[in-house]
Amino acid sequence: MNDMLKKNPSKVAPLVEVKEKRAPSYQLVRGMKDVLPADQKYWDFVIGKAESIARSYGFSKIETPILEETGLFVRGIGKQTDIVEKEMFSFVDQGGENLTLRPEFTAGVVRAYIEHGMLNQPQPVKMYSHGPLFRHERPQAGRYRQLHQFNFEAIGDGHPVLDAEAIIVGNVIFKELGLKVNVQINSVGDQNCRPKYKEILTNYYRSKKKNLCEDCQMRLAKNPLRLLDCKNPQCQPFKAEAPQFVDWLCDDCKNHFMRVLEYLDEAEVLYNLNPQIVRGLDYYTRTSFEFFLDGEDLASQAALGGGGRYDTLVEQLGGRAATPAVGWAMGVERVINKLKEKNLEVPDLSKPEVFLAQLGDQAKRKSLSLFETLRREGFRVYQSFSKDNLKAQLEIANKLGAKLALVLGQKEMIDGTILIRDMDAGVQEVVDFNKVVVELKKRLRG
Ligand code: HAM
Repeated sequence: MNDMLKKNPSKVAPLVEVKEKRAPSYQLVRGMKDVLPADQKYWDFVIGKAESIARSYGFSKIETPILEETGLFVRGIGKQTDIVEKEMFSFVDQGGENLTLRPEFTAGVVRAYIEHGMLNQPQPVKMYSHGPLFRHERPQAGRYRQLHQFNFEAIGDGHPVLDAEAIIVGNVIFKELGLKVNVQINSVGDQNCRPKYKEILTNYYRSKKKNLCEDCQMRLAKNPLRLLDCKNPQCQPFKAEAPQFVDWLCDDCKNHFMRVLEYLDEAEVLYNLNPQIVRGLDYYTRTSFEFFLDGEDLASQAALGGGGRYDTLVEQLGGRAATPAVGWAMGVERVINKLKEKNLEVPDLSKPEVFLAQLGDQAKRKSLSLFETLRREGFRVYQSFSKDNLKAQLEIANKLGAKLALVLGQKEMIDGTILIRDMDAGVQEVVDFNKVVVELKKRLRG
C-alpha cells in the first residue's frame, strides 16, 4: 500500500464492480459429438475389426469427398425420402453450385464407379469406406446429425450369393466385436412386381387413411412402401395386418430371394423374415435387410446397420444399363454405444506398455536414445523427459495405465543396469542395461 493511503485510509477509492470482459464461448453444434481421447479405443477397435474383415473378404478401400452435387443424392436416394425431403445439409457455394454434405456413401461410391470407368474392371467391384455423414435429423439417443458409417458396396454383379455375402460379412464383424445380432430380412421386389404390390398396399391402406398418422397420410399418396416403416404407435396395428411383399414377388425376385436365404442357411446366419424392412432410401430392389442386437425392440429404430440390393441405381446415375449391385452400412456410433452398454472390454492401443522414467541429467540423456530403441522395437513407450522427480514420473505412468516402468537413475548408470518395475504388482527387478529389450519382450510378448 502506498504511504498516502496508509496515513489516510478514508481516501481509499470506493470499490467499483468492474464487469469482466470475457470472449464469447462456443458450444457443440446441436446433434454433433466430440470424440475425446478416452473414447478413441472404441473407434480404433470397431474400425480396425471392420477394416481387416473387409479386406479379407476382398473389399478395397475407396474415399469419396464429403461434398457432392446435391442432385446426386436427390436422384440417388429419391425425392420422396425423409433424407432428401428434410435431412440434407445443402447450400449454394460462392460459385453458385448446389452442394450437399453427404448423408450416405452409396450414391458417391456409385458416382465414382461410373466416373472412373470401373465397369472395365473384373466385376463385381467390391469397395468399403468409412467416415462422417450428415443428416439433419431430430437429435435423440443413437441419432446424430453427424454420424459415422462403415460402408460396403459390391457393384456389377447380380448373383444372390453376393447379397448373402454382404450379410455374412456383417454377421462376422458383429460377432468379432462381441455383439450378438440377428438379421431382419425382406424382399422389396423390382420394377416388374413393385407397381402391383404398391397398388395392393395402397388399396389396403386407403380405407384406413383417417386413422393413420399425418406422415403416413402423406406417404399414402407419395411413397406407400414407407407406410411399412412408420414407427408411430397409432399406425402399428395396420402395419401388422398389411399385405406382404413376399406374397407378390415376381418369379425372378422370388427365386432370387429363396437363393439368398439358402446361402444364409448354409452359412448358419440367424435371420428373421420381416415384411416391414422396406428401408428409408428409394434405390433398393429385391433383398433388403437390417441388423439388430439380439433381443432388441425392433420398433426402437436402433438398427446397427442395414442395406440391400440396388440393381437400378448405377443406371439411374448415368451408368451403363443393367449394373446390379448390393451393399450395406454399419452405424459406428450405435455399435460403440452397445459395446459400452454391455461393458465389453476393448483393447486400448493408446495405453503405454512401458513408461520410461529417468533420474539425473546423465540418465535423462541416455533415455533419449533408449526411448528411440524401444519405439523401433515396436513397444508402446511413453516418457516424461521434462520431469526430474521420480515420484512424479511414476505417478504419470500409473495414471496412463502403463504395464511396466523402466527406471534409469544415477546408480543404474554407474552399474550398467536398469530397473524394470511391474506397475500392478509393485515389484521391481534390476536387469543388465544391454538386455532391456530381451527382458521387455519376455514380459510383454510372452
Ligand atoms: P441407412 O439405413 O440409412 O443406410 O444407414 C445405415 C446405418 O447407419 C443405420 O442402420 C444406423 O446404424 C446408422 N445411422 C443412420 N442414421 C443415423 C443417425 N442419424 N445417427 C446415428 N446412426 C445412424 C444407408 O445409409 C445406406 N447407404 C446403406 C447401404 C450401403 N445400402 C447399400 N449400400
